[in-house]
Amino acid sequence: MKRRNTFLGVIAAAVLTAAVVSAADHTPLTMDTCAMCHDEVAAAFAAGPHGRAMAARSKDMLERSCAACHQPTAAHIDDPSPQNVHKTPPRGACTACHASMAAGLELTTPGHPRNGVRCLDCHASGHHDPGTPHLLRKAPNTLCASCHPEEAASFSMPYAHRNGQRGAVSCLSCHSIHGRHGENAMRHLLGNGGVCITCHAGKAGPFIYPHPPRVVNGCVACHEPHGSMNPFQLRRHRVMDLCLECHADVPAFHDLSQARYRACTDCHVAVHGSNRDPLLLQP
Ligand code: HEC
Ligand code: HEC
Ligand code: HEC
Ligand code: HEC
Ligand code: HEC
Ligand code: HEC
Ligand code: HEC
Ligand code: HEC
Ligand code: HEC
Ligand code: HEC
Repeated sequence: MKRRNTFLGVIAAAVLTAAVVSAADHTPLTMDTCAMCHDEVAAAFAAGPHGRAMAARSKDMLERSCAACHQPTAAHIDDPSPQNVHKTPPRGACTACHASMAAGLELTTPGHPRNGVRCLDCHASGHHDPGTPHLLRKAPNTLCASCHPEEAASFSMPYAHRNGQRGAVSCLSCHSIHGRHGENAMRHLLGNGGVCITCHAGKAGPFIYPHPPRVVNGCVACHEPHGSMNPFQLRRHRVMDLCLECHADVPAFHDLSQARYRACTDCHVAVHGSNRDPLLLQP
């Protein structure tokens, strides 16, 4: 009884108590018990990255982890048929120990849980060492590309951040799945330059005369984040077409039949914002 109470202190998850204690004799279904029949599997798990991470927290947590994921009933010891044990951990098995990661996922990339993407779609169990950071099933870019081929393909466009070339920008340079920043990921990505300014600090000022679209919609008001056919990853091939989408009523002296006036940023050089000129004609 004493051990069981210690365990509950470590993992405050009432749902586990029924699963981990054999109804018949109150023998805890610990790793030691599993190892009687699954010795190689148990030893490999304990020596792997997940097992070691658990043991670093507490040896007791590692002992209880087999049952936490597989949720066997006591009957499994006598009858290993599938109704007595889950080969694939049921939904919620991870949440018992990782409540904050599950909550972060809901908040940061709600599209994942809403579409039934599971923890184990992205993470390995730890029975085998995938050799990736965060126990990901595959290297981050490969993993993300398997479900987001369109975004991944954009990085091969002529104007894009090059993975490993332009300063090793990867999907995870901009995206956080669980919310490193304690806020909704899209807001973090977009608001006032968002993630872009972690590397392009100067582009978001602060300016005395900021160019409003950046403040309101972020860099993606004008730039494609993943890659583009257009120079500077702009949303339009000609800079002028981009500007005229929002400034159809330029002053009349802008004679757009002349090439000189079509080169908007030749004069409005401070397109990201200015400290001297509200018309963005000087930096
Ligand atoms: C008395 C022996 C015995 C013990 C103890 C035991 N198992 Fe099993 N287990 C088996 C047998 C036999 C099988 C079916 C053959 C196999 O896959 O090895 C099995 C299968 C499994 C499977 C795969 C199920 C499937 O559908 O393929 C899992 C997962 C599992 N056991 C987990 C555990 C866990 C966790 C423990 C400790 C709580 C445990 N076992 C304790 C004998 C045992
Ligand atoms: C984080 C959840 C998790 C933990 C903890 C865990 N497993 Fe597993 N286990 C899985 C998953 C998922 C699979 C399915 C194969 C895979 O993805 O590696 C699996 C597969 C198995 C199998 C079937 C192996 C096969 O090849 O058919 C056995 C047996 C097993 N686990 C036993 C254990 C034992 C014993 C422990 C404790 C040392 C343990 N597991 C800890 C998630 C877990
Ligand atoms: C019995 C408790 C327990 C269960 C159940 C459990 N984990 Fe863990 N896991 C831990 C601990 C402890 C760590 C070490 C990090 C920490 O303290 O948060 C960890 C670490 C991790 C890491 C980070 C590994 C690294 O190298 O950075 C991932 C990813 C992870 N777990 C995923 C899962 C997934 C997915 C499941 C469900 C299939 C799961 N865990 C189930 C206890 C658990
Ligand atoms: C198993 C498939 C799968 C994997 C792997 C996956 N995603 Fe997703 N992702 C989805 C689905 C489904 C959606 C929601 C529908 C949509 O918007 O396409 C989504 C949505 C998103 C969104 C939009 C935000 C939201 O909440 O809807 C972002 C950003 C995202 N994923 C980034 C990533 C990144 C980065 C990776 C790699 C670490 C990744 N995804 C891995 C399936 C996956
Ligand atoms: C769409 C893919 C995806 C899904 C689904 C997902 N994760 Fe993650 N997880 C990641 C990535 C990528 C990281 C690296 C950090 C980040 O981006 O937030 C990570 C990091 C982690 C970490 C390590 C955190 C650290 O600081 O080392 C744990 C633990 C974890 N995830 C657990 C879970 C659990 C539990 C679930 C299910 C509730 C889950 N993950 C679902 C992709 C995913
Ligand atoms: C340079 C930063 C950056 C990188 C690198 C990056 N993204 Fe994005 N991603 C963004 C921004 C910003 C948005 C929001 C775009 C918008 O709303 O117009 C976004 C949006 C998304 C969305 C949601 C699309 C939608 O329409 O809802 C997905 C999915 C996504 N990214 C996947 C990926 C994948 C997969 C990778 C790696 C191949 C990746 N991203 C790399 C910045 C980035
Ligand atoms: C992880 C760091 C990082 C992040 C985040 C990042 N960038 Fe970059 N970006 C770079 C590096 C490095 C270069 C290459 C600079 C050079 O060419 O000297 C670059 C180049 C660019 C260029 C092309 C410059 C040129 O002269 O061709 C544009 C446009 C750009 N980034 C826009 C963005 C936007 C928009 C975002 C947010 C969606 C963003 N970047 C996020 C690192 C980053
Ligand atoms: C109003 C549209 C607009 C917005 C919003 C915008 N940009 Fe730009 N950006 C441009 C244009 C146009 C160019 C090309 C400059 C030229 O034609 O001389 C450019 C060029 C760039 C360049 C490459 C050239 C250089 O000056 O280094 C980078 C990097 C860049 N932008 C980053 C960003 C970042 C980061 C943000 C968000 C904080 C952002 N931009 C917001 C329009 C915009
Ligand atoms: C997404 C919409 C959008 C785009 C694209 C855009 N702007 Fe603006 N710009 C605005 C808004 C909003 C203001 C604030 C003044 C207003 O409401 O007209 C502004 C202000 C300005 C001003 C200051 C003068 C004034 O009316 O206050 C200049 C100059 C300007 N933009 C030039 C440009 C140039 C050059 C480009 C192309 C590189 C461009 N803008 C692209 C939305 C945009
Ligand atoms: C040859 C230099 C030059 C070029 C090229 C140029 N502008 Fe201007 N623009 C100016 C000057 C100078 C002013 C200020 C006029 C004044 O003092 O009222 C101005 C004013 C503006 C204003 C502010 C209107 C107002 O008073 O609210 C906008 C918006 C603007 N330009 C957009 C553009 C766009 C879009 C382009 C490209 C199609 C462009 N400009 C090309 C020189 C230029």
